[in-house]
Amino acid sequence: MSANRPGSGEDTGSVKNGSMERNSSGALLDIRDLHLGFRGYTGYTKVLHGISLSINRGQRVALVGESGSGKSVTARIVLGLLQETRTARITGDVEFQGNDMSSLNASQRRALRGTRMSMIFQDPTSALNPVFTIGYQFTEVLRRVDEKLSKEAAYLRAAELLHTVSIPDPARVLDAYSFQLSGGMNQRIIIAMALANSPSLLIADEPGTALDVTVQAQTLQLMHDMVATHNTAVLFISHNLGVVREFADRVYVIYRGRIVEEGATQSVFESPGHAYTRALMAAVPRVTGGGIPDIDDESADFHDPCFTHDSPIAGTES
Ligand SMILES: Nc1ncnc2c1ncn2[C@@H]1O[C@H](COP(=O)(O)OP(=O)(O)O)[C@@H](O)[C@H]1O
Ligand SMILES: [Mg+2]
Repeated sequence: MSANRPGSGEDTGSVKNGSMERNSSGALLDIRDLHLGFRGYTGYTKVLHGISLSINRGQRVALVGESGSGKSVTARIVLGLLQETRTARITGDVEFQGNDMSSLNASQRRALRGTRMSMIFQDPTSALNPVFTIGYQFTEVLRRVDEKLSKEAAYLRAAELLHTVSIPDPARVLDAYSFQLSGGMNQRIIIAMALANSPSLLIADEPGTALDVTVQAQTLQLMHDMVATHNTAVLFISHNLGVVREFADRVYVIYRGRIVEEGATQSVFESPGHAYTRALMAAVPRVTGGGIPDIDDESADFHDPCFTHDSPIAGTES
């Protein structure tokens, strides 16, 4: 399969300003000391308290934590979406492929989305536009890197890509509208679209949690295989530790806007260091009584800023 397209994520040059990767750490995405707050009627609310997180090329990194902990806002900052929100105050560094995101203007940030970085959200059906056919929407995506691509060529390319996500009859799907297709089918389409331009980073924010669990598992497996094929790095956001364990190479645990633990997936799961990570894990098998158990976050354990697994066991992973 021809994964690399003109203008794809791999070293093909510019965002707009021609800069190549040159950040000091060599990471694909490097977030350092990210703070976020919102101005509201009742005052200023801090949401992120100095998050640091980095992702290397082709790496699958999970960000896990309970609802409201700051996962989606982090994703929205990386995507350059929250920067458009007037009430948001963002400080800290976000570097993507050596570009300081804060130095880009809105149209430069927009140019990155769907080309160098793309995203998959919870609900595939609402992510697609119901008034345009799948073929039309696919063409728009492909034209983000190749403005002159003809409709015929775009349909051929789209059909090829739909084949790679195990859609047997691409022609029918391209002529359909999202509401005529199942959630699982729409999710396959979303995955194909998100990877169509071989982005170097995919942000998947609780992907497919709106789907039934079997379909979600199938499409996650598909996403896993597809990112491997494209060598796309993933920021995988989830509150489901079982899924994270299967999917990610590396895990960051976020609690109330702070990273409390990070490390290779295996190390974090085998020897969780922070009290919150242990509480999160203890909560996994429960079918009822959702949420994490009562924890005493005033205990000394919770004052640890971050538990980092940088010991040699981190390297025992495949
Ligand atoms: N646009 C916004 N204005 C004000 N507060 C917001 C906004 N977006 C998110 N928040 C708040 O930021 C916190 C983190 O939200 P979010 O990142 O969506 O959590 P989650 O970890 O569940 O994805 C929440 O308390 C949420 O209410
Ligand atoms: Mg969220």
